[in-house]
Amino acid sequence: MAAGFWLAILVCLLGFFLGLILNHFLPLFLKLGPLPKGTFGWPVLGETLAFLNPHPSNSIGSFLQDHCSRYGKVFKSHLFFSPTVVSCDQELNYFILQNEDKLFQCSYPKPIHGILGDISMLVAVGDIHKRLRNVALSLVTRIKAKPEFLTDIEKTAIQILGSWKERQQVLFCEEARKFTFNVIVKQVLGLTPDEPETARILEDFLTFMKGLISLPLYVPGTPYARAVQARSRISSTVKAIIEERRRRGVGESNKRGDFLEILLGVDSLSEDEKVSFVLDSLLGGYETTSVLMAMAVHFLGQSPTALAQLKLEHENIRSMKKRGEFLNWEDYKKMDFTQNVISEALRYGNVVKFVHRKALKDVKFRGYLIPSGWKVLPVLSAVHLDPSLHADALQFHPWRWETQDQACKKFTPFGGGSRCCPGSELAKVEIAFFLHHLVQNFRWRTEGGDQPFAHPYVEFQKGMALKVEHFST
Ligand code: HEM
Repeated sequence: MAAGFWLAILVCLLGFFLGLILNHFLPLFLKLGPLPKGTFGWPVLGETLAFLNPHPSNSIGSFLQDHCSRYGKVFKSHLFFSPTVVSCDQELNYFILQNEDKLFQCSYPKPIHGILGDISMLVAVGDIHKRLRNVALSLVTRIKAKPEFLTDIEKTAIQILGSWKERQQVLFCEEARKFTFNVIVKQVLGLTPDEPETARILEDFLTFMKGLISLPLYVPGTPYARAVQARSRISSTVKAIIEERRRRGVGESNKRGDFLEILLGVDSLSEDEKVSFVLDSLLGGYETTSVLMAMAVHFLGQSPTALAQLKLEHENIRSMKKRGEFLNWEDYKKMDFTQNVISEALRYGNVVKFVHRKALKDVKFRGYLIPSGWKVLPVLSAVHLDPSLHADALQFHPWRWETQDQACKKFTPFGGGSRCCPGSELAKVEIAFFLHHLVQNFRWRTEGGDQPFAHPYVEFQKGMALKVEHFST
């Protein structure tokens, strides 16, 4: 038994050193160019634990701080069981994102595949990804053109905020998750919060989310194993909804105007791909958007001038409308300062710290070699917080966006290139409409000094408790 254990350790170490020689010294020997500076850290684990060490999401954390000052903005390391090039450089990040499937490719850790499944758009590559993505983009265009799209979002915001009127304290993260979940379930499956399927999907979905960020041990009872099971239960629920829709047909009276209705008419996707598609939309559209909402509200709470300007913008928009009239696209387009607040919350708060890629070929960048097969991590937050690119980078300053192009290389909160987030507009509309009703009906104060932490997924440790006070306008 003991001999077996030591043999296993020996094999691991040999594997590690063999990998090190092949990956580290061979390129030098073959004169492909020097590797970026850096160190591989411990055998097997490398520097993964230090890299994942939590830190406030509006900072780059001590690991990146230390490594960038020692080795520069591009350095090598050993992360997630693979030799890795980490990039905190805006040009290299942009180059990586723009060369998807040519020089680099999306490459999420295996356990994520285990939970999402290989046909998930979030992890699929090559032609499968292209096909899924084309359907996603056409679905987004068609759903946005529907008149109920905006009204459904606004009604959900009004309903959540309505439930605050008699309360003095709320846990904002919980409320924001309720809001984004209700919006996405309505948009995708046409379900309202009081339908039994909604509660069932939410329960499974929460288990699923916990597993995504847990230790990937497929042993019965672990969060990872429970997540895999929860995913298969959500699939069954979605399949049952699809079957029910087919059985009833899509006559005029059965039209719900949701994603699923359009999806059912798409011939280029198999049944399993359709189910996986629904899961991707739920997953992509839930946590990210609610975290961004929480960050916007948190940073606004610390910037009374920005809050006053935001309130004024929404009061002006409301003053042009009849009492109770819903917002439309024209109103949304008038929300210039709101857009600046959202962009600044994205830049300063960093919902997604980095994305996972691997090099498909040997790539030369500024004389350095990024060897084929290595992991490549473009760190989006490092560019957002780089003081040489953004004046007063460590300040929440929404006014910077009055003169700065939001579609620039130094601002990529939704990724870039052919994997750029298809839900970015939906997320922004949700937040803008929620803020519209929040600032006109409530005063709030954050309690307990909670702040957003990157684990790297972003979380407010105590759920962001708010003291709220309702006032009538
Ligand atoms: C604040 C909100 C959001 C942020 C910060 C965000 C961020 C991102 C980022 C950085 C990526 C690129 C991942 C990569 O390159 O590997 C991405 C992809 C994706 N997002 Fe979002 N997202 C948000 C909201 C949404 C919403 C509302 C939806 C769906 C309704 C969504 C669905 C997706 C999907 C399906 C992908 C995969 C796209 C592909 O691989 O082609 N996201 N998101």
